[in-house]
Amino acid sequence: MAERKQSIHGQWSSRLAFIMAATGSAVGLGNIWKFPYIAGENGGGAFVLFYLLCIVLIGVPIMMAEVMLGRRGRQSPINTMRELAHEESRHGFWQIVGWGGVLAGFLILSYYSVIAGWALAYVLKAFSGAFTGIGGEQSKALFGGFTNDAYAVGFWHTVFMIITMVVVARGVRHGLEKAVRYLMPALLILLLVLVGYAMSTDGFVTGLKFLFAPDFSKLSGDAMLEAMGHAFFTLSLGMGAIMIYGSYLPKNVSIAKTTFYVAGADTLVALLAGMAIFPLVFTYGLESSAGPSLIFQTLPIAFGNIPGGVFLAGLFFILLVFAAWTSSISLIEPAVAWLVENRGMKRITASLWAGVVTWLLGFATVFSFNIWSDVKPLSGLATFEKSTLFDLLDYLTANIMLPLGGFLIAIFAGWLMTRKSSKEELKIKFPYGYPVWLFLVRFIAPGAVIAVFIVKTGLWTWAKNIF
Ligand code: PHE
Repeated sequence: MAERKQSIHGQWSSRLAFIMAATGSAVGLGNIWKFPYIAGENGGGAFVLFYLLCIVLIGVPIMMAEVMLGRRGRQSPINTMRELAHEESRHGFWQIVGWGGVLAGFLILSYYSVIAGWALAYVLKAFSGAFTGIGGEQSKALFGGFTNDAYAVGFWHTVFMIITMVVVARGVRHGLEKAVRYLMPALLILLLVLVGYAMSTDGFVTGLKFLFAPDFSKLSGDAMLEAMGHAFFTLSLGMGAIMIYGSYLPKNVSIAKTTFYVAGADTLVALLAGMAIFPLVFTYGLESSAGPSLIFQTLPIAFGNIPGGVFLAGLFFILLVFAAWTSSISLIEPAVAWLVENRGMKRITASLWAGVVTWLLGFATVFSFNIWSDVKPLSGLATFEKSTLFDLLDYLTANIMLPLGGFLIAIFAGWLMTRKSSKEELKIKFPYGYPVWLFLVRFIAPGAVIAVFIVKTGLWTWAKNIF
């Protein structure tokens, strides 16, 4: 086998640097903003359990596959897939994983940046003392008043896009390592403080029950698809983000171990966020199914009622912005790396192009919460009856594109790559580690993706009626 080269974009300085960067990509709005609200919309316990199952059986093996492909290909996901397909004597079709990923990255970042912009705006609100002594109704009104203002939301989306593209232009490895090293632990501590406050409220037990006691009658096909899609979303899988971070990974680092750390940290943060939020929902009579506004309505109440709340609230939203920032960078990196590799652009030019396109797309989401809140393009279909442009973007990317991308990655890594290649690249040391991984990535992960699609589309009920 030819000596494997390094990526032209550089390499992580150590294993820890990769773990930090990958955790930075994984831990983001998905954990703190999205997980609680979708758990709330889908009835809690059973949804959470199904989500955890998806993380273990689908997420972890596919994450290992993605890191492995990235490290072997050492280029942007499009070129990595082209090269690996060639190397394994497979069809060039497999580049589609890279292309689909670039598209998903643009679409996700377009709305992700808007929500991160909300968090930015909330930093200022927090420090101005806007949450002091606030109750449920006021918190709701505060949020509604802000998102109704298209100019304000657009402004903060713009600010967030600028700070993201500045880091991307400089190259993801500069600064990112250090930032994540301090900010992640800080975020964890603040979440623990919030859980501590939640424990002191009357709704704590009700909140925990909601989150952890499964009621399987609530687990619809829709909920299952949402949970599976979110497993991909929260681990940054299925679109090349983890693949490109894998391409900067030094040769001798154990992929299995690092994957466990990243998936573990990501899951911990999501569960803590849920434990901080649901007790407040029940204590203050808010709706568990409030949707995307959930954390912006609940957390200000907690901060408004604890000593030092002004400072802690400001700090919390700053950390949330950082968590979103480190995820955003990885969403656009596959596209930027490709532009540098194939169009010979400088990083700064490539970042500018990618940034402007995403920024413009973002206005579909900015307006979804105000002037276009009545625009429901697919209202003719039952599932999308109430879906705004933002809802559709989220559904298309998280529930369809990422699982499909992940499915193709599993098939390629499990079936089309020779065992010799995958074994050599993974170098799993645990006894039986490799065969277990191979089994999961060949059968369980792709099988589960297909099964969930089938249950969701109702094909299952249809088949049951026939037989
Ligand atoms: N994992 C990130 C989060 O949970 C979002 C993300 C998805 C980042 C896909 C990169 C790729 O917020």
